[in-house]
Formats: sequence, structure tokens, C-alpha cells
Amino acid sequence: MTRERDVIIACDFASAADTLAFLDKFENESRKPFLKIGMELYYAAGNDIVREIKRRGHKIFLDLKLHDIPNTVRKAMKVLSALDVDMVNVHASGTTEMMKAAKEGLTRADGTRPLLIAVTQLTSTSEQTMQQELGIVGTIGDTIVKYAQNTRAAGLDGVVCSPLEAAIVKGACGDDFLTITPGIRFADSAADDQVRITTPARAKEIGSDFIVVGRPITAAEDPVKAYRRCVEEFVD
Ligand code: C5P
Repeated sequence: MTRERDVIIACDFASAADTLAFLDKFENESRKPFLKIGMELYYAAGNDIVREIKRRGHKIFLDLKLHDIPNTVRKAMKVLSALDVDMVNVHASGTTEMMKAAKEGLTRADGTRPLLIAVTQLTSTSEQTMQQELGIVGTIGDTIVKYAQNTRAAGLDGVVCSPLEAAIVKGACGDDFLTITPGIRFADSAADDQVRITTPARAKEIGSDFIVVGRPITAAEDPVKAYRRCVEEFVD
């Protein structure tokens, strides 16, 4: 299992053709970028794009955020495990029992498995919405810590959280509990629609294990240069 710091590029493209055209730019890079495939690309291009990207030698975070009854999640994870991706995720709100079932389904006969990560609260959910619509009592910070502790208790590897939450998650769950953090921007680039953002260098100081970077790389004039800059700030 991978445990070292790495930069994950969010491949938020609508088609296999757009994705492969983007990846062609990295053909001569000695470091093959770790890539995130989300729902949009997966539902559009399916397992074929996953296999093609693996064939090209990239690691893959398949960001499908499973959330269903434990039996269904266990069986779905078994299917994803056979795809040989490197990281998958679930919603922690699916309960500890569901997360344990996910891990069981994901674990292959030889004991190996992809990293398994949970989403605590989506960053699009405000504290007010969480309390009034979802009926969760308490602050959003306390809820994130509670969900991260449930994730650890279920035996998963870590959580997706904002880089600004990574330190409290590490404090509550231990240093070896992984934090995967989107919301990354260079000091001199646009925030887009992200609110709680930080730079790759600061994410390293805070203790993120993986940063997920989309538009600062995918929309850059020179994506390879932008990727190298992330690696220099965060990994080296
Ligand atoms: O383009 P940008 O760097 O904002 O992309 C961030 C990626 O991380 C997107 O794929 C987005 O869906 C994902 N993400 C996020 N915030 C979360 C969870 C996932 O931005 N809390």
C-alpha cells in the first residue's frame, strides 16, 4: 500500500478522449502522476478508461464515494478491487458497519487491497445545513472528528478533508491516519469556487499525505510545469 506523500491530479474531464489528450502531455515525464477519476468520467467512460490509464502506468484514486447498505457496498467493492485501482472511497455517514463491509469486499484473497478512504462531511455542506437539514447536532468540526474516528475504528486508512482540517484529524486519529486534501491553490493563482484553500507547501507543513489538485493543473497553460511545481512544493 502507498503511504508516501503524493500529488493526485483530479481528472475532471467529460470523456475518455479529453482525458487521454491531457495525459499525452505527461508522456515524457519520469514521474507518472497519480490520478483521480470521479463520477463524471467513470460514468461516461467506465472501466475501459480505468484500464487504459493503468496500462499507461498511473496510479488511480477512484472517487466514487460509495454509500449503501453494508451488503451492497461489500459486493460493489469486490468488483472495484478487481480493477486494480490504488485508492477508493465511501461516505463515513454510511456507518462503521458499512465501512467494515467495504474493507472486507475490497480485500483480495492474498490480503492486498487498495487504500480505503472515507468522506466525512462534504465541503459543500455548511454547518447550518448540516444541523438544519441533516439533523446533526454539534459543530461541523466536531462532526468531522467524530466521523474520522469512526473511520479509523472501522479499520480504514484515512479521510478526505480540507487541508485546514488535516491537523485536527491527525490530532484525533494519529499521525499514520491518512489525510487526502483537495482545495489546493498556488499562492499566485485563482481560487475558483473553492473557499477553504491552501498552497501545496502549506499542505505539506500541515501534514497532508495526498493533495488533490484539479484546475491549477488541468486548466494551466502548461499543465506539466504546474504539476512539477506541485511536486516541488509538496513532495520534494
Ligand atoms: O479544480 P479543483 O482543484 O478545485 O478540484 C478539486 C477536486 O477535488 C475536484 O475533483 C473536487 O470534486 C474534489 N473535491 C473537493 N472537495 C471535497 C471533495 C472532493 O474539491 N471536499
